[in-house]
Amino acid sequence: MTADEPLVLGIETSCDETGIGIVRGTTLLADAVASSVDEHARYGGVVPEVASRAHLEAMVPTVHRALKDAGVAMSDIDAIAVTSGPGLAGALLVGVAAAKGYAMALDKPVYGVNHLAAHVCVDQLEHGRLPEPCMALLVSGGHSSLLMVPDVTSDVRPLGATIDDAAGEAFDKVARVLGLGFPGGPVIDRRAREGDADAIAFPRGLTGPRDAAYDFSFSGLKTAVARWVEARGRDGRPVPVADVAASFQEAVVDVLTRKAVRACRENGVEHLLIGGGVAANSRLRAMAAERCAAAGITLRVPRPGLCTDNGAMVAALGAEMVRRDRPPSTLGIPADSSMPVTVTQA
Ligand code: KG4
Ligand code: ZN
Repeated sequence: MTADEPLVLGIETSCDETGIGIVRGTTLLADAVASSVDEHARYGGVVPEVASRAHLEAMVPTVHRALKDAGVAMSDIDAIAVTSGPGLAGALLVGVAAAKGYAMALDKPVYGVNHLAAHVCVDQLEHGRLPEPCMALLVSGGHSSLLMVPDVTSDVRPLGATIDDAAGEAFDKVARVLGLGFPGGPVIDRRAREGDADAIAFPRGLTGPRDAAYDFSFSGLKTAVARWVEARGRDGRPVPVADVAASFQEAVVDVLTRKAVRACRENGVEHLLIGGGVAANSRLRAMAAERCAAAGITLRVPRPGLCTDNGAMVAALGAEMVRRDRPPSTLGIPADSSMPVTVTQA
């Protein structure tokens, strides 16, 4: 880290995490996150109005905590970056409004950035400069996509995406069927460790020869798990939760890694990056490592804390935009709930 690299404050509010990150160049100085996940748990999913209200309450204290953690003053900040989309409109609006306010008060440039590109760029904070082009597999509660990334600040190309549920959504719904609570990913990951991944042969969506090579579908798998569990209940037999969790997880991870490695091979890309909340999954990390090693692909996966939504990822992308002399956004940055992945900057 050199003192002449820009000090960037990143604001993330696209879902249920109020994230404030502070980055200098590619060095992470602070990553303060306030989550409203507990407030949503009893509804079994994120309630947009509850999330927006929580962002509003958490914003200023979380900014102050990040500044304190980083040991810097607000006046030291060179630029502000904020998630412009995609995400929940009301939740995004809180972050965007805060970013504009800070940018105006400090008279500093502001960058409205794409949440998905930020999930890719965050890896720079852990593994150094991003190799480009790289392939990115982004898997979270809101999205599952395969992206070709020639330039994370300006050129992100979607190769495929889920045609129904996101991978994380499938984890959350299956966890509900198994009575494991919300969010489902971490608990399925944990329970699967005691189970047999080969116990039940669950379907692998969109893996037939005529199916779209890079698209995903998890809703058939989710239904298959629900039917299997129901049938057990009808027979009056106990549900082997760990085996169901392990077999379900194996099906998801098999499809994700198979398609990601294929995308690298067919497009001549040597680096695969996995990001988003589901990238915290231990089986996904292990199988991706095995399959990438076999295919001669270098794998990069940020540590779990950087995979889930946070402000550091937004700061990382903002810092990269400053470094590459990308023009800042205007103060008209929208809260764009359906911002396309091809639009890296608002
Ligand atoms: O990226 P993220 O924090 O928020 C969104 O943008 O959606 O991802 C949250 C999702 C949830 O669906 C959660 O169940 C899933 O990531 N998740 C996991 C794990 N940890 C979080 N899924 C599988 N295994 C995990 N260990
Ligand atoms: Zn996300």
